[in-house]
Amino acid sequence: MVSEMFGSIRLEKEKTKSMTCYPFAINVYICNTIMDRREFIKVASVGACAAALLPSVGGLVTGCTPPVICDGDSVGDIDSGKWDFDEVVDRSGTWSIKYGRASENQIPMWIADMDFRTAPAVSSAMKERLHRDVLGYTYTPEEFYQSIIDWEKEMHGWQVDKEWVSYCPGVITSINQAYLTFTHPGDGIVVMPPVYNLFRMYAERLGRQVIDNPLLFDGEHYQVDFDGLEKTLSRKDAKILVLCNPHNPAGLVWDRDVLRRIATLCRQNGVLVISDEIHADLTLYGRRHTPFCSVSEDAAAIGLVFAGPTKSFNLAGVSMTAYCVIPNEELRQPFQKQLRDAKLDEAPIASLVATIAAYTKGTSWLQSLKEYLQGNIREVVDFFSTNDLGIKAIPPQASFLVWLDCRAMGLGQDELMRFFSDKGLLLSNGAAYGQGGEGFVRMNIGCPRKIVKEALERIL
Ligand SMILES: Cc1ncc(COP(=O)(O)O)c(C=O)c1O
Repeated sequence: MVSEMFGSIRLEKEKTKSMTCYPFAINVYICNTIMDRREFIKVASVGACAAALLPSVGGLVTGCTPPVICDGDSVGDIDSGKWDFDEVVDRSGTWSIKYGRASENQIPMWIADMDFRTAPAVSSAMKERLHRDVLGYTYTPEEFYQSIIDWEKEMHGWQVDKEWVSYCPGVITSINQAYLTFTHPGDGIVVMPPVYNLFRMYAERLGRQVIDNPLLFDGEHYQVDFDGLEKTLSRKDAKILVLCNPHNPAGLVWDRDVLRRIATLCRQNGVLVISDEIHADLTLYGRRHTPFCSVSEDAAAIGLVFAGPTKSFNLAGVSMTAYCVIPNEELRQPFQKQLRDAKLDEAPIASLVATIAAYTKGTSWLQSLKEYLQGNIREVVDFFSTNDLGIKAIPPQASFLVWLDCRAMGLGQDELMRFFSDKGLLLSNGAAYGQGGEGFVRMNIGCPRKIVKEALERIL
């Protein structure tokens, strides 16, 4: 297809001879005269699609001003402010883990990725990069660091120095590397369950001891058990506290005073804090996320922040896409060495391009996404407050996961999971998140509203 097209273009070569931006001129010609632009994208193979996107690449290569990019359905309107989160995106044939585990008639609302397309700014940047067919060894460019520095400042009000930032091969892989850097087998890793299960799972796999300091729950609100924490941190074997900030599965946005108090206690006891901030960009209802290391001198001295665009921009399958911010050089150096020694410090091209695009061009898409998620959450909360099923939704302050308190149903955990499964829903099992998770399930509402409504109707 491509060669056919370029064959016909050759006839017109004379017309473009005088132009300095030759590839660009050819593509403008393809897009504007050979066929309707949408039609071109539809019929063309991946290679031809590259040609359709070549104008901007041509612009980069030759130094010409990139022209308007040919628009295709999947490229989308980057800055229109109108994104269709109601669209049911076909994920079949994409090796989706979420759908792969669900039976045919089940709605999968478990693992934490969303059923929306990623931001057009991200997919467009990735396509442009790929269409150059240049996939050699790649260094981490200045733009990567700058996009993170600007994002942290603008989104979270945190002024970050460039030296503090490193590329990381995914949040969990990197937290595991931090366990290896700062602890020995048998050392204690403190968690505050119910909490994201992989903190515990990998600590145990690496032969570390998990020490629980469960959150307090009064049926409405969660709180840190500071009395318990004081005792836990004073144990000689406690070396690291892993904080989920914002918190998964309960969607809590920790406030500054709580974080400050945690930092003071941890520093007094010589315990480091790993702050997993992967859900930070998804704070809702105008709330702001507080980066752990920004709250005090103590926090900056003992904290390691791990974050990335994978949750907010729905990039979980790009994988190996994260960064860490470590203000204290005495922690940063050994951690960076650990990543280097394991050869985990080289960012894949896709991670770099996606992160830069998300953080430099994704703000308005993200804002729209958050508004849409708030609408979905409202559906869920209203549904459970108007239908007396013994289920109470804890409205998340961040992200797209709703923690459902089903204890009043009086079912054992297996029965509870069977209840939802028989209704045609695949949810996350609350018990997986540790103490305090029994009697709960987690519902992922990162999908079109009509799917959320359908899921709720099934529960009735
Ligand atoms: C709190 C938290 N941390 C980390 C991850 C996974 O991050 P990554 O895929 O970068 O390892 C998730 C995914 O659900 C999560 O909820």
